[in-house]
Parts: sequence; structure tokens; C-alpha cells
Amino acid sequence: MARPRLFRLWLALGSVLMILLIIVYWDNVGTAHFYLHTSLSRPHPTPGQGEDPDAEEFLDKLLGSGKPVDLSGRKTELPPAAPSMEESVRGYDWSPHGAPQSPDQGRQQAERRRVLRASCANASLAFPTKERSFDDIPNYELNHLIVDDRHGVIYCYVPKVACTNWKRVMIVLSESLLDRGAPYRDPLDIPREHVHNSSTHLTFNKFWRRYGRFSRHLMKIKLKKYTKFLFVRDPFVRLISAFRSKFELENEEFYRRFAMPMLRLYANLSSPPASVGEAFGAGLRVSFANFIQYLLDPRTERLAPFNEHWRQVYRLCHPCQIDYDFVGKLETLDEDAAQLLRLLRVDGRLRFPPSYRNRTASSWEEDWFAKIPLAWRQQLYKLYEADFVLFGYPKPENLLRD
Ligand SMILES: *[C@@H]1O[C@H](CO)[C@@H](O)[C@H](O)[C@H]1NC(C)=O
Ligand SMILES: *[C@@H]1O[C@H](CO)[C@@H](O)[C@H](O)[C@H]1NC(C)=O
Ligand SMILES: *[C@@H]1O[C@H](CO)[C@@H](O)[C@H](O)[C@H]1NC(C)=O
Ligand SMILES: *[C@@H]1O[C@H](CO)[C@@H](O)[C@H](O)[C@H]1NC(C)=O
Repeated sequence: MARPRLFRLWLALGSVLMILLIIVYWDNVGTAHFYLHTSLSRPHPTPGQGEDPDAEEFLDKLLGSGKPVDLSGRKTELPPAAPSMEESVRGYDWSPHGAPQSPDQGRQQAERRRVLRASCANASLAFPTKERSFDDIPNYELNHLIVDDRHGVIYCYVPKVACTNWKRVMIVLSESLLDRGAPYRDPLDIPREHVHNSSTHLTFNKFWRRYGRFSRHLMKIKLKKYTKFLFVRDPFVRLISAFRSKFELENEEFYRRFAMPMLRLYANLSSPPASVGEAFGAGLRVSFANFIQYLLDPRTERLAPFNEHWRQVYRLCHPCQIDYDFVGKLETLDEDAAQLLRLLRVDGRLRFPPSYRNRTASSWEEDWFAKIPLAWRQQLYKLYEADFVLFGYPKPENLLRD
């Protein structure tokens, strides 16, 4: 890398930082968090990619937008951990750790991304929202994109696809949560309720409130420079997993919001018990068939968008609008997690937590769907077809034929 160029870049960064520091001085931690990190965070860890042009373009954009961000109406509910400037400058040890990725894994990623792009470009695959642009995605639909400015990573979380553990990793990386004054170092130390508390994470949908009309611009810069990843899973197996965790286990919230209406509508139960405890006590549970019927009922979506646990991945993560760098799969979670952490160059600092003991297995699929009428299965496939195709899951022919 050309030294003088780098030097000039640092000079430029220095001036920017002076200005920003003044802004920051008068402003709150939330803004400080963004400016310091954004201007210093590393671009993609893609090997062989020069960072100067990107960084300069980024600075241009940052400065070129002229007016400062609209500072009114922003709150600092977010990251308590605004690390010191020095820490931001020094950052972490960026030297590569561990073994380089194997050519096989590299090919596998390339293939997954190729399938994704080809499906997005293929007019034969149609699904709602496919053709809209990133600008047309409303803010509230960007609530699954978690940003780590420290390492330049964006993770789109998909419930029922190891998302608790990936959220934990994001908390450790971004140091967005403190444990008695110090950031968590081990993902497993973070209590579950904090992991799923949305105020723990910096997500795209919060940008508007923090950065005002500047927010889309910022998102696009980050989308361009950061490493973006998501984890997916066979769509039907994900549904079984969602059913098991939300309706087979006692869950008061899901019972009231979803199971009670399902019992009324599909189990001919005019007044279901008021609590999940009573219902389970009386042996009243929604069946998997009730759940499928609920998903296929056109009234469901009219009332409210699918809950995130069964909402299609294309609606959660916008894979045709966001060019993901890494597509992980639950079916190959251990290898993919190791590969991704190496790619992000954080494999020396943390390990991906071990997975859940009794994970829903693909081999259970036939049993689970045995009692679901064929016509329903075919409709269900249509409902989730985009997820099957985009992420290269073969059509489950065995379930869709007599
Ligand atoms: C587009 O999708 C159709 C239907 O799935 C498929 O038959 C065709 O081969 C695809 N075209 C390309 C170029 O991938
Ligand atoms: C989430 O975290 C915030 C801030 O720490 C806290 O005020 C809020 O009560 C938490 N919410 C839940 C549901 O635990
Ligand atoms: C539903 O329940 C009512 C009374 O509880 C009964 O009269 C009716 O036949 C039931 N309908 C079905 C389809 O089971
Ligand atoms: C795993 O879950 C299945 C179905 O939910 C259950 O039948 C089985 O007993 C569980 N296995 C263990 C070891 O907990």
C-alpha cells in the first residue's frame, strides 16, 4: 500500500475528526458513537482490496453532504459503551488468525451467492417486494439489520436460525452491552433476556431517529463498506422449529397473541382458556395443522405481517436489495460459523457458542407434515418458495406429491 497516500488519508481523517470532535463535544454519546466509529472502521476484510479509494469516497460523501445531521429529536438510549478515542484508533488486532479458509468453503460461499444473485435476477421467480429498491424499504422493515461499527459488520438476524448466538457475537464485537462496567468478552456470558432486548442492538431502523434525513445515505455507505451476513435454514424445517419453540413450550405471550385466535378459528373452541398454563393443563394445544392453517389463512396477513419467527427470510433481510457477502446455513452451522469468524478476523477473540441440544432435524420433516393435507403443503410451498429458491434449498418434492 502506498505510504504517502495512507498518510494523506490519515491527515484528512485527522481534520475530519477535529471537526467531529467539536460536534461530539456538544452532543451526546449516541452521536459520538457513530462518528468516531464510522470514520475509523475498517472496510471489508476482503483480501487484496485497497482501502484508500473507498475511504476517500466515504469521506467525500461524509463531507459532501454539507450540513450536519439533524440533531433534534435524537435519543441516546443506545450503546452505553462509547469506547475512548484511543481505543477506536488502535482498534483490535487485525492480523489474520488461524488457518485460512479452505478452497471448498470459498467455493461454497461463491456458489450460494451466485444462486442468490441469479434468483434475484431471474424474472421467473416472482415474489412481493422483489422489485423495489433499497430506498423503498420502509425503516421498520430494516429492524433485523444489526450493525457493528467497530468491525464493519452487518448481521441480518433470522429467528430460529441460531440468531441468539449470533446476536451474542454481535454484542461482544460491538461492545454494545456492559457487564459491571466492562464489555462482555464471552458470548455465553450474556443473559438471554439482554440478547433479545432490541435496545441492546444498533439496528438500521434506529438510524432515522439518530441521524435524521442523513440516515439512508449512511446506511448505504455502511452497506457498501461493511461485511454483511445472514444465516438461513430449510424453510419448512424452520417452521417446525418455530412451532416447537413457541407452541409446544409454555409461552404466555405466544399463547395469547397467536394460539388463542388459532384455537378459536381452527379448533372450533369459542372460548379458549385465558392462560397458557390452564390450556396446557386442560390438554388444549394448537396442533401443527392449526399453525399451518393460520399461515395459509389470507386473513392472517391482513391483520398484521407475519411474526418474525415465521416471516419469510426475504421479507426480513431483503436479499435482493442487500448484497450479502456471506450466506451461512444452519445445516452447516459449525463450519460456516468458523469460516465467518475467520473472515471477519475475530476468530482469535471469540468462539461461536455450541448449538442447541435438541435442534429440529430435517429428517423429521416427513413425520411432521404427514398429517398436513397435500393441498396445504403445496400452498405452503408457494408461500415460502422464494426462500427455498433464493437460498438454494431444493423443492421438497416428496412432500408435494401424493
Ligand atoms: C429462472 O427460473 C426458472 C424457473 O425456476 C428456471 O427454469 C430457469 O432456468 C431460471 N433461469 C436462469 C437463467 O437461472
Ligand atoms: C431493555 O433494555 C432497556 C435498557 O437497558 C430497559 O430499560 C428495558 O426495560 C429492557 N426491556 C426489557 C423487555 O427487558
Ligand atoms: C363446533 O362446536 C359447536 C359447539 O361447541 C358444535 O355445535 C359444532 O358442530 C362444532 N363444529 C365443528 C365443525 O366441529
Ligand atoms: C427433542 O424434541 C422432540 C420433539 O420436540 C422430543 O420428542 C424429544 O423427546 C426431544 N429429545 C430430547 C433428548 O430432549
